[in-house]
Amino acid sequence: MNIIIVKNAVEGGHEGYKLFAEAKKNGAHVFGLATGSTPITTYQEIVASDLDFSDSISINLDEYVGLAADNEQSYNYFMHKNLFNQKPFKQSYLPNGLAEDLEAEAKRYDKIIADNPIDLQILGIGRNGHIGFNEPGTPQDSKTHRVALTQSTIDANARFFEHEEDVPKEALSMGLASIMQSKHILLEAYGEDKADAIKGMIEGPNTPDLPASILQGHGNVTVILDEAAASKL
Ligand code: GLP
Repeated sequence: MNIIIVKNAVEGGHEGYKLFAEAKKNGAHVFGLATGSTPITTYQEIVASDLDFSDSISINLDEYVGLAADNEQSYNYFMHKNLFNQKPFKQSYLPNGLAEDLEAEAKRYDKIIADNPIDLQILGIGRNGHIGFNEPGTPQDSKTHRVALTQSTIDANARFFEHEEDVPKEALSMGLASIMQSKHILLEAYGEDKADAIKGMIEGPNTPDLPASILQGHGNVTVILDEAAASKL
């Protein structure tokens, strides 16, 4: 893994943006995108730049089950607010968390990924080492699937919702095998509460108990960390 240590999320966002710009220059046209607070500084730099994605495709990692696209807490809403409204893509895909048949929706999403191999995938990481919504214990050969969120993830997400009972308990997520197919993976992590997950991801065994550790088996991973997230390495 190529590890870049920066002072803070703003500097990290700039490094992340540079990887997007370089990928575009080298012909990348399918971008795997993530939500959460972590990629926001990268998206801000992209929005402020003259990069043009109108001929590119985006494929997001995950979406909550049960939230409509116009729900302010949905990942669809997040992506429009933070990136797509300012930088439209030719086509942007997210899982449909309102699909009546979630198994069929997962299959549809796998076909989208198979038809559009991801050139650059951006990732955050959960405090328990999850990527996308692949919680500890998720099989390493998983494709897009329905996920029951862990209490740790529900608690971490609760700050965004008015009432705790409104926090979704399920999601649709790209699987670990889907993520591993990306040609280049960029994982960003900021803050001390990510330090244990980062240590496990880089120095621990490659184990389903810490989903991000699967990235040790990928030949082209860039990790951008602030000093706090890197403090236990
Ligand atoms: C959610 C998302 C992940 C994200 C994680 C961390 O679980 N599904 O993609 O990496 O949150 O979020 P944050 O970047 O806000 O710390």
